[in-house]
Amino acid sequence: MKLGFIGTGYVGLVSGVGFGNLGFDVTCVDIDERKVEMIKQAHPPIFENGLEEMLKQLIASKKLIATTDTAQAISKSDVIFICTGTPSLVDGSIDLKYIRSASENIGRALRDVNSFKTIVVKSTVVPGTTRDVVLPILEKESGKKAGVDFGVAMNPEFLKEGVAVKDFQDPDRVVLGTEDPKSLEMLKELYNFVNCEILETDTATAEMIKYASNSFLAVKISFVNEIANMSEKMGVDIDLVAKGMGMDSRISPKFLRPGIGYGGSCFPKDVKALKAAAESLGIGAIMLAGSLEVNRNQPLRAVELLQKHLDISGKIIALLGMAFKPETDDMRESRAVPLAEELLRLGAKVRGYDPIAKETAEMSMPKGTEFFDNVEDLLKDADAAILVTEWKEFQSYDPEFFLNHGIKILVDGRRIYNKKTFNAAGIVTEVLGQA
Ligand code: UDX
Repeated sequence: MKLGFIGTGYVGLVSGVGFGNLGFDVTCVDIDERKVEMIKQAHPPIFENGLEEMLKQLIASKKLIATTDTAQAISKSDVIFICTGTPSLVDGSIDLKYIRSASENIGRALRDVNSFKTIVVKSTVVPGTTRDVVLPILEKESGKKAGVDFGVAMNPEFLKEGVAVKDFQDPDRVVLGTEDPKSLEMLKELYNFVNCEILETDTATAEMIKYASNSFLAVKISFVNEIANMSEKMGVDIDLVAKGMGMDSRISPKFLRPGIGYGGSCFPKDVKALKAAAESLGIGAIMLAGSLEVNRNQPLRAVELLQKHLDISGKIIALLGMAFKPETDDMRESRAVPLAEELLRLGAKVRGYDPIAKETAEMSMPKGTEFFDNVEDLLKDADAAILVTEWKEFQSYDPEFFLNHGIKILVDGRRIYNKKTFNAAGIVTEVLGQA
């Protein structure tokens, strides 16, 4: 089987390279010529562990080609994945403009095609989108009948940034949402490399599985953050609470790490989109609204802890890390942004250093933030430091390190330092969620 990927962002490129590595012939399409050119030169437009090496081999062996020509990819491929972005509109609801235009292009290309091809939506979309938006556009533009002349399916991705290649190769589960039996057979053949269970559903159910999974994890993080906020004030050890909760196999210890909240390209956007979709149907999405509210307040908690020891106005506050999580340069929805905004609002001078997310931070952080190339310069003359992203290099810092750099007040927003040890060593340290 030959495969086409429309959209070379995270999902499209990682999946395309992943399938290419399994021996499939892959065509990657993007409307952005710059991205296509980069891929042709074997430079992934995104940073992801292991991706560049794999892409190099695939480009050298011509197993993967990149183009801006959708029709070329359609004519060459048996299965075409739609992997375009699904940004948020101002009200949080999903913007389907890229999905629509990709569907139109694919539909037009299908006109001149005589073999059965399956079009698979891989982008995260609101339940019903594949069946009620993509399928009718494909039929209209191609003049052909879905289920007879071509197939339609939905196959969500569950790739975590930083470990996306590994998640592709060794998934927890694969969800195949289809509207016709032939597409299901094609997708089952494609995924026969996995060692996990394959769940077969219709397309709307597959779409909901993706939204519900991400929303559940977001709610879980916000829940443990709320418990951590209580524990801090009640003199309770949240680490032991999370450990004790996680020992219950129904709860599981994963995604129970309290901190300044969740960010990234998926959780905030998906929770907002599902909430907006529910509300448009007259259903109050109370759990989702609650998760978003906790997540909005969580970075402000770090400021509150700092204010216990410092009048922030006019002070220099150093942010250790800015990316939304370690091992990525992704700044999307990073909690560093609202945190810096609040510090600036209170009159602080904000500066930041991130081992990888320098360029992306410069584009995303609020105006007024100063950027540094190393921790030494970042901490020099700073009045206090806040740990924002738990990069490995920060985890090795002991109290001496901070004291040697003149830091006497430290707030740990990701809970990597030991409050007792640090305080005993002479640094006033607050760890979010720790009494
Ligand atoms: C997520 C999903 O995990 C993945 O399945 C989906 O397809 C895309 O979205 P990703 O955004 O890469 O992946 O990051 P993830 O590792 O899930 O972390 C998301 C955010 O939650 C980060 O900001 C992280 O710091 C935060 N988080 C995670 C916590 O605050 N506590 C936790 O216990 C876990």
